[in-house]
Amino acid sequence: MKTIKDKDIYCLIGNPVSKSLSPTIHNSYFELIGENSIYFTFEIKEEKLELILEAFKILNVKGFNVTIPHKITIINYLDEVSEDVKVLGAVNTVRNLNGKLIGFNTDGKGFLKSLEMEKIDVKDKKILVLGAGGAANAISVSLAMEGVKSIIIANRTISKAETLSDRISSYFPKIEVKYDSLKLENVKKKEVDMIVNCTSVGMYPNQTESPIDIEGFQKNLIVYDIIYKPKKTRLLQLAEFKGYKTINGISMLINQGLCSQEIWLGKKDLFFLENFEKIRRILKNYIE
Ligand code: ATR
Repeated sequence: MKTIKDKDIYCLIGNPVSKSLSPTIHNSYFELIGENSIYFTFEIKEEKLELILEAFKILNVKGFNVTIPHKITIINYLDEVSEDVKVLGAVNTVRNLNGKLIGFNTDGKGFLKSLEMEKIDVKDKKILVLGAGGAANAISVSLAMEGVKSIIIANRTISKAETLSDRISSYFPKIEVKYDSLKLENVKKKEVDMIVNCTSVGMYPNQTESPIDIEGFQKNLIVYDIIYKPKKTRLLQLAEFKGYKTINGISMLINQGLCSQEIWLGKKDLFFLENFEKIRRILKNYIE
């Protein structure tokens, strides 16, 4: 029998990390594919970040995920970052390749993978992104990379929407990028093909709220809320009532984890639907 000392070590670093579903996703996945590996969580304070990365190299931690508050600052301590991280400015996955720490971001890829699974093609589409934080940043950039026609960033704090919109425009000059407040006063609602909620409105303690007024959109609208708990946010309830197609954040959550696995294990095509479904079933116990 193999003991714990034979296992490859993976982990999540952040603060807080106690509520994260990443250990459940990754440990389940290692078991499903027969990898002799284990995934921990470590609560790491900002001032200890550099030290912990050195420790990971010495301990030969094979890979790790990064969450709030280290997603941006960690870039200063990595040996290399992927091309999309250079655009995004944030890392959520690190691979330790023979003592070299390489940073990636799988949030946007997980989002795109979830669209692919729903057979949604966003090329030449008009997308309304709600929010201008880390998730909105990753998702907007991934949408831009997919060749959408236009992106509107709507956010409570309009200056942040403007900053994100300027950032996307500078990297993707062919895409029409606009910004607005969550009142959407300047948005031509009938032209929007898909809304992606990347704000935390709909999550505890704002479960009864919707980030926007869902009235006035066209009938083929797709409403994607990246929140997975609750699995049906107020926004999705209202959208469903209007007859729009709705998607919640569970698939993105699983897929960004599977994208991290691909990076760590250096393997392609780990997205076997069978494994995805098994993890989804396991997560049900934690989410519903
Ligand atoms: P994440 O990494 O999940 O994107 P974040 O970077 O903290 O988290 O971003 C949170 C997003 O939710 C922001 O767009 C934030 O809007 P502000 O930029 O105005 O802060 C948005 N948000 C959070 N609480 C909100 C609320 N009560 N109403 C509207 N937007 C809210």
